[in-house]
Amino acid sequence: MKQRAGYKAAELVRDGMVIGIGTGSTTAFALERVAELVREGNRILGVPTSFQAEQRAADLGIPLTTLKEHPALDLTIDGADQVDPAFRLVKGRGAAQVRERVVAEASDRLLIVIDESKLKNALSGDIPLEVLPFACPVVMRCISSLGGVPVLREGIRKDGPVISDNGNFIIDASFPCIESPEEMERDLNNLPGVPGCGLFCEFAKKTTVIVGTTADCLVLDTPEKTR
Ligand code: A5P
Repeated sequence: MKQRAGYKAAELVRDGMVIGIGTGSTTAFALERVAELVREGNRILGVPTSFQAEQRAADLGIPLTTLKEHPALDLTIDGADQVDPAFRLVKGRGAAQVRERVVAEASDRLLIVIDESKLKNALSGDIPLEVLPFACPVVMRCISSLGGVPVLREGIRKDGPVISDNGNFIIDASFPCIESPEEMERDLNNLPGVPGCGLFCEFAKKTTVIVGTTADCLVLDTPEKTR
């Protein structure tokens, strides 16, 4: 399903484009096809959102550039952990949401590639926040007072906390329900010492959601209105 979604997204990449390269396993499939386009002679440049994306693109021979050289991007291909009917997203399982938000902002178009299990009627559960290590105890208290349960993300095959590509910690904040994702995003992003949370509500208008299913691929272009 992830492969179907990734391959479909790559069909929208054209000669001459500068694209944002998201993080995660679904985007990795898209990169396989983008690499084929490069080998066929298409001039495509990528701006990676993480060390993982950078490594993957380099391994596949996709030429890379930076936001300094290209502050405006034609499109970004990226994954998500949850997508609701209004195309609001939860991101950050891979701890890359801060750079992913920057690259999404820079892009004319955002292609979100997911498998069908990630389509949700409402966003819920853990929201990842990147947090300056210095600010962690204070941010944890603030999350509790917003009604959430904060958990410092621990490494796998590494003792201690996960360190993001920007040198920060990750807190997964679990909320029993998220009534207004926009408000929650604003509240979390306003906490001092938080470079960014994993709620993305502001990109719906330029988002296309590409959903890999067991048999097919759905391309959803218009978010449902929520109010
Ligand atoms: C990275 O921090 C995340 O936002 C990923 O884009 C998201 O978790 C989707 O990952 P997969 O495509 O691997 O499921």
